[in-house]
Order: sequence, then C-alpha cells, then structure tokens
Amino acid sequence: MQEQWSAVDNWLMSALLPQDEILERVLKNNQQAGLPAIDVSPTQGQFLAMLITISGAQRILEIGTLGGYSAIWMARALPEGGKIVSLEFDPHHGRIAQQNIDLAGVEIIIGPALESLPGLVQQPPFDFIFIDADKRNNPAYLDWALRLSRPGTLIFGDNVVRNGAITDAQHPDPHVQGIQAFLQDAGQSGRLTATALQTTGIKGWDGFMLARVNE
Ligand code: SAH
Ligand code: DHB
Ligand code: MG
Repeated sequence: MQEQWSAVDNWLMSALLPQDEILERVLKNNQQAGLPAIDVSPTQGQFLAMLITISGAQRILEIGTLGGYSAIWMARALPEGGKIVSLEFDPHHGRIAQQNIDLAGVEIIIGPALESLPGLVQQPPFDFIFIDADKRNNPAYLDWALRLSRPGTLIFGDNVVRNGAITDAQHPDPHVQGIQAFLQDAGQSGRLTATALQTTGIKGWDGFMLARVNE
C-alpha cells in the first residue's frame, strides 16, 4: 500500500502545491545534517498553514521544532506581527532549524519542552498549538496547551494513529500509551471539542487530532 499512498500524495502535491525551492532546500539541509525525515509532509504543511489562515491565529506555539520545516509553513501563514514560539529539546536540531528559519517571528527555545512551557505562562495566550514532539509526554503537553490557550484556541496533535497502534490497549511503547491518554484526555476534558482523522501518504498510515477550546 505504501507505494500507492506515496504515488497519490506525490500526485496531489504536484497538482495543488506550488514548487517551493526554500522548503525543498530545508529538507535537503536537514538530510545533510543527519536529522530524521519526520517533518510533516508538504500537503500537511499546507493544511497547517490553511488552519492558521482560516482561524486568524497570530500567536503559535509549536512543541517539536526539528529542522523548522513545519514552523516555516506556519510562519508563512501568519499576519504581519504574528509570532511562533517553537520548543526543541535537541540543540543540534535547534541550530539547523535556526539556520533554516531566517524569517522574523520564530523564536526557538532549546530544552525539554516540559521545562520551557512554565516560562510561557506570562505571555499572552496562544491561538494555535501544534504538538509534535516526544509522544509519551503528550498528556502533559495537552495540560499545558489548555493552560496557555484561550476559548477558540486550536490544538493540533500530530501522529495520533501510528499504523493503528492506538487500538492495542496493552501496547508496550510509552509513546503509543502517551497518544492513547492524550486522545482520551481530550475527549473527556469538557473544555475541548475534538476530533481525529486518519491519513495515508508519503509518511505512511497515521493521523492527527484537532481540538478547539470551548467558549
Ligand atoms: N514539527 C517538526 C517535526 C518535529 S519531530 C516538523 O514537522 O518539521 C519531533 C521533535 O521533537 C524532534 O526534533 C525532537 O528532538 C523533539 N523533542 C523530543 N523530545 C522533546 C522534548 N522533551 N522537548 C522538546 N522537544 C522534544
Ligand atoms: C516520529 C515523530 C514524528 O513527529 C513524526 O511525524 C513521525 C515519526 C517518530 O518519533 O518516529
Ligand atoms: Mg510529527
């Protein structure tokens, strides 16, 4: 199936997305620097950018920068004066991302996200929060997202399906357990309206959660 999913994704990309030398160069830089190729796909990047445009978000929080590929997609959708704070544990990833991002308005904070998040409470709330780091900590990231949000904030969680692993209640992988608890917490929170969709494409079989903080 992977071959067909990739073929369709590539077809969609060439039909819908403009050729983009900067984003292609970013992926090449990441590869040369030895970063894992776990960035969002181009169609997913465009989807994130469209969510930001549609919702009118001005302040974005990203947990998991890697080489800055998703941050660049989102930064481009921001209005003048908009801002992204992106949290990254690995200083090498952060350095490469900083080289890739010479766009104003992206601030990369190096360190474990759970140590950086408390420092953000004095900032104004975020309008869009993209959770895409170590999935074992997703339940804690959801708690922080709720603290750093306002009614109407969108919370987007990447990689929530992982080849269907979530349906295995005895799954030994703490990342899968983190995703399971993240989705269950979102469903039971009472403060969120949440859904998730499965995706297939160049990144395999996966999915995302989209939640909105209720009024
Ligand atoms: N959003 C990126 C991909 C992120 S990959 C994109 O689509 O382009 C996940 C990133 O999370 C990796 O760079 C990894 O180093 C980082 N990460 C892992 N654990 C973390 C933690 N505890 N705090 C912050 N970042 C973490
Ligand atoms: C992994 C992480 C991601 O954010 C992703 O999109 C794909 C894979 C991983 O840790 O394997
Ligand atoms: Mg991801």
